[in-house]
Order: sequence, then C-alpha cells, then structure tokens
Amino acid sequence: MTPAAPRVYELRGADAAAALDWLHVHADVHGALEGDDALTVWLATQLPPLPFPAVVVREIAVDPQAATITGLEADRPILVAADLLVRPPWVARPAGFAGVELVVPRGGAFGSGEHGSTQAALRCLHALWDAPPTFADVGAGSGILALYAHARGCPRIAACDIEESAVMATRELLPQADVFLGGAETLPAVHGMVANMTGSELRAAMPAMLARWQRRHALVLSGLRAHEVDAVGAMVGAPVAYRVTVGDFTSVGYRGGAR
Ligand SMILES: C[S@@+](CC[C@H](N)C(=O)[O-])C[C@H]1O[C@@H](n2cnc3c(N)ncnc32)[C@H](O)[C@@H]1O
Repeated sequence: MTPAAPRVYELRGADAAAALDWLHVHADVHGALEGDDALTVWLATQLPPLPFPAVVVREIAVDPQAATITGLEADRPILVAADLLVRPPWVARPAGFAGVELVVPRGGAFGSGEHGSTQAALRCLHALWDAPPTFADVGAGSGILALYAHARGCPRIAACDIEESAVMATRELLPQADVFLGGAETLPAVHGMVANMTGSELRAAMPAMLARWQRRHALVLSGLRAHEVDAVGAMVGAPVAYRVTVGDFTSVGYRGGAR
C-alpha cells in the first residue's frame, strides 16, 4: 500500500518553537527542521488550529511520489569477484548468478560490502579458502566475513568485536556463530581466521590472534594501507600466499601448514 504523503508546514514567529512543542503533544509529528528564521514540520495529517495567533503558517506542497522514496532505490548487488557477490536483502539476486552470495542488510555496523577493505578481505578469503573446520572473524562489524565462512559450509564459526552494536549485528546475521564482545583474546583456538581492521589495530591485536590461529588453514588480514603491509606481515612470519588491493586497502593471506 502506498503510504500517505506527509503534510509539511513552515512556522515563523517568536512562538514557533512553542508551537512545535504543542504539536508534539497534539499532532503526529514525523519530523522537524530548525532553520535560522523558520521551523519546518512534517505531520501525518493536516495541521490542527494552533493556539499561537502570532505564528505565521505556510503549507509547503509535497510531491505524493516523494512519500514512497526510501533512499534504498539506488542499491545494487556488489560483484566482489566473478563468482562472489554481496547484496542487501531488498535487492534481488541477478538473474543467472550461481556463485557465492552474501545477503547483508546495511545497518548500524560496518561491513555492507561497499568498503574497499571488506572487498579486499573477501577476495583474499575467496582465493585462499581451504574449508577450515573452525573459523574466526576478528573485528566482525556486520559479520559479513563470518557469513562468507558460513556460506562456504564452515561448521563452527566464532567472531568478536569491541563494539556492542557489531556484536549484536553479527549475532543477528549469524545466530549459529559464537560471537564475543571484546578482542581476539575472547576467541577459542581456530583453524582459519580473518581480520579486517586498521594497521595499528591489527598490530595491537596480532599477538592474541596468532595465539589462537592454529596455522592449519588460511589467515587473511585486511584493512592495511600499502606502507603497513610489511610490518604486520613480519609478525605472521610466513610467506604471503595472496595479496590484493581494493582502493586504498590491501589484504594479505597466508596459507595454513606454512609452519
Ligand atoms: C573495518 S571494520 C570491519 C568490519 C567487517 N569485518 C568488514 O570486513 O567489513 C573493523 C571492525 O573491527 C572492530 N575492532 C577494532 N579493533 C578491534 C579489536 N582490537 N578487536 C576486535 N574488534 C576490533 C571495530 O569495532 C569494527 O567493527
């Protein structure tokens, strides 16, 4: 059903702010914008008579089509590799696509597939994926990289993030994963691992990550600027098996069994 267009009114005068307070009690206010010399108010229905005679009211015409605009119309599937795409749930799968598909809503936590560091991480993971029996996503954000492991059939997935909102988003996206609030020290030992964070965050987290990565399956690090790659790589102490840069962000991957 098409939603009814809101009614929009401009209120001017010394009592405009008091009129808005009154409207919050006596009308269904959808929004208000405070300008330098006027208040604009969005209402569900017609403006009731205001008990502020000095307030000058002008109705602003609204295109009824605008009531249906959600801001999501321009969303498209993101083809990360020829056989790997990310899309929000409200965007249809492209006809004929038969690769790995990650359906991630764009919400409060980082990681909807648009950012170069996420794409680099996904491309690296995709190139090196070696079916680890257990896998961890450090700095999960939305949980998109953990979702990749799930889509590839990994039976035991753990994830962590220092942000409560990211932990909640990951739990919602992947109810079967063990999601911890905190850094890599909260994680169990795992066969494969991914982390997409800034270079300095990665360097700080690396000792705890390396203590949990069992070096049996791939490790992927992303979010690095080109000049940060060597310092972080030196901490891993294994040859880089795959490297990819998307925009300003580089991801490097290490194969398991290297040591
Ligand atoms: C760039 S976002 C990556 C999100 C998602 N994994 C992706 O690839 O799109 C980095 C995330 O790491 C989290 N983070 C930063 N430092 C962390 C740390 N030491 N341990 C765990 N998470 C951390 C941030 O809260 C943020 O959600």
